[in-house]
Formats: sequence, C-alpha cells, structure tokens
Amino acid sequence: MIILGIESSCDETAAALVEDGKNILSCVVASQIDTHDKYGGVVPELASRMHIEAIAPVVSEAIEKSGVGMDDIQGVAATRGPGLIGALLVGFSFAKSFAWARKLPLAGVNHLEAHIYTLFLSEKYPPFPFISLVVSGGHTNIYYVTSPDHFELLGQTRDDAAGEAFDKVSKMLSLGYPGGPVIETLAKSKDPDAIKFPRTFLEKGSFDFSFSGLKSSVARYVHDHKISEMDDKAQVAASFQEAVIDVISKKLIDAAIFKKCKDIAVTGGVAANQSLTEKLRTRAQKIGLNVFVPPKELCGDNGAMIAARGFRMIQQKNVCDLCHDVFSRARID
Ligand code: KG4
Ligand code: ZN
Repeated sequence: MIILGIESSCDETAAALVEDGKNILSCVVASQIDTHDKYGGVVPELASRMHIEAIAPVVSEAIEKSGVGMDDIQGVAATRGPGLIGALLVGFSFAKSFAWARKLPLAGVNHLEAHIYTLFLSEKYPPFPFISLVVSGGHTNIYYVTSPDHFELLGQTRDDAAGEAFDKVSKMLSLGYPGGPVIETLAKSKDPDAIKFPRTFLEKGSFDFSFSGLKSSVARYVHDHKISEMDDKAQVAASFQEAVIDVISKKLIDAAIFKKCKDIAVTGGVAANQSLTEKLRTRAQKIGLNVFVPPKELCGDNGAMIAARGFRMIQQKNVCDLCHDVFSRARID
C-alpha cells in the first residue's frame, strides 16, 4: 500500500511516498530556514504563508520522483498536531482535499508519534518495549513504547525544549537559526568541560527536563565575559552542548533501568547531533543498553515519517473525515 505523507507543522513543507510503511519511494523537504534565520526563530505567520506557496509543488515533486502514478496512491497521511495552527492547517487541509477528491482514506497523524516511526523506516529498529526520546525544537519527551500504538509519557520538559535551548544559545552568540547544527560544528574543536554550566536533574526519580536554568546561565556567562570572538563562542557552544548531553543521557539511561528495558532510541531534530548520540551510546553500552538513532536525513521533519505512521493508522481504520481539525498541543499517550 502506497501512502502519501504530508508534513507542515513548523518550518518545513514536506511530502513523501512510502510503500507499506517501510520503503521510501520519494521524500521531498522544502525548508523555510533562510526566511526565519533573519528573525532568529520561526515566525508563525510567515511559516503559514510559505507553506501555502510550497505545498502543491512539493507534493507534485514527491509524486514525480516516486516513479509511481497518481492512481497508485492508496492513502493520504498528514500531520494533525502538535505544531503551529496556521502551518498545520495548510498541510492538513491540502491532505483532506486530496483524499476527498481521490476517494482515499486520510490519517491525521500525531507529529511526535511520527518522529518515533522514523525508527521503523530503518533496517535495524528496537524491539518492543523500548524507551524513546523525541527531542526537537518544540519537545523533549521520554516515552515508554510498548507496541506500535502505545506510547506512555514518562517525562517532558517543564520549560524550553532541548532544540529550543540550542536555538536560543545560538541567537545569544549571533550564530543564526537553527542553532543545533552550528553549535555542534563549533563545539568539535573545544574541551567540553572547560566551562561548568549547570545540569538540572529535578527531583529524584523524575524524568522531566528543565533547560531554562542552563539557558540563563549561558546568557549570564556571555554577558559577563563579553563573548564576541568566534573562538570564545566555540568554547561556550562546547560546554553548553555537554551540559545538554549529560542531562539527556542520564535521564534516558535511568528511564531504561526503571522500566527494565534494554533499548533506547533518540528521534527528532536534535537526534541529528552526533556528539549527543555517540556519548549516549558509549555510556549506555557500558551497562549493556543499546541505542538506536534514525538516519540523519530522517531526524528532522519529513513526510516519510508521517506516511509510515499513517500507514499503520489506515491499516487499523483509525482515519479522519472532513470534520476533523488540527490541534496545537497534545500528549500522545
Ligand atoms: O524535529 P525538528 O526538525 O522540528 C521540530 O519538530 O521542532 O527539530 C528542529 C530542532 C531545532 O531546534 C534545531 O536546532 C535542532 O532540531 N537541531 C539540532 C541539530 N540539528 C537540528 N540540535 C542539535 N544538534 C543538531 N545537529
Ligand atoms: Zn519535529
């Protein structure tokens, strides 16, 4: 069964054709990064307008590149939430029209569940049950995934998401948007332990996160030390990134031990950070835990993960009609 997957929850207009929830036939992503870079973050109104311009060409390109015909598409999946309402509306309304016109089933996909489904697009994925972190610009959630449809939320951020912290620190250092890739690159040349930024672990046994203290501490350091040279920025980047890695690694390993689970997965935009995944893997392997990470090109928002989750939903007859609407916030369990 070939599914058209559409994603438009934030600043990427994306579409993909995926066969049987597994084989990616095409995957097209139109990024709005250059537009939002000027403002140091995503401007929701601009995002909606750019989705409107991009959606039809992106879907057409995905169909063309897939090598299959329009009649071969047997279902449509689109992100219903969480995300920016105006942005979501563009992709979801397009998907509704497409499904209605072609008389196809429509899956309204949860963006966070879809990030976890990037794991199943790879050859090697964790056996159930496993612990999965979804870490992006909007979320830092730890789930205990017991089946393809059951995601128990163990913890989440109480303030900033990890990706958001990367973006805000990047803005403080005038390094542009998005912050993750540039901070990771700069950090490579420096000793991560040179500056001791705080690690917030919250109450004993909690799997929640808090990155606002770290963010404020970096802001104070940048201000007090008048950081402006690239060399000094790289040092701040390395020590900030290390603080994030320490907290995430400890929480994930603790969650795996708590649930007596041998497998940990990291998904979402921040999972593209190799320093994070390599250090987590080293620490986890020491106590016999495995770490799974999707291919880098599938860590950020894409249509293939929406199609993969949508395939499962359509199989289970978990479908939407024209009355269903998008949602901005929601838990997935
Ligand atoms: O999943 P995603 O593409 O969109 C959302 O659903 O938010 O994640 C985007 C986030 C941004 O905050 C970006 O800075 C972060 O992922 N990111 C990274 C890296 N690449 C992207 N963070 C750390 N290291 C990276 N290499
Ligand atoms: Zn995302």
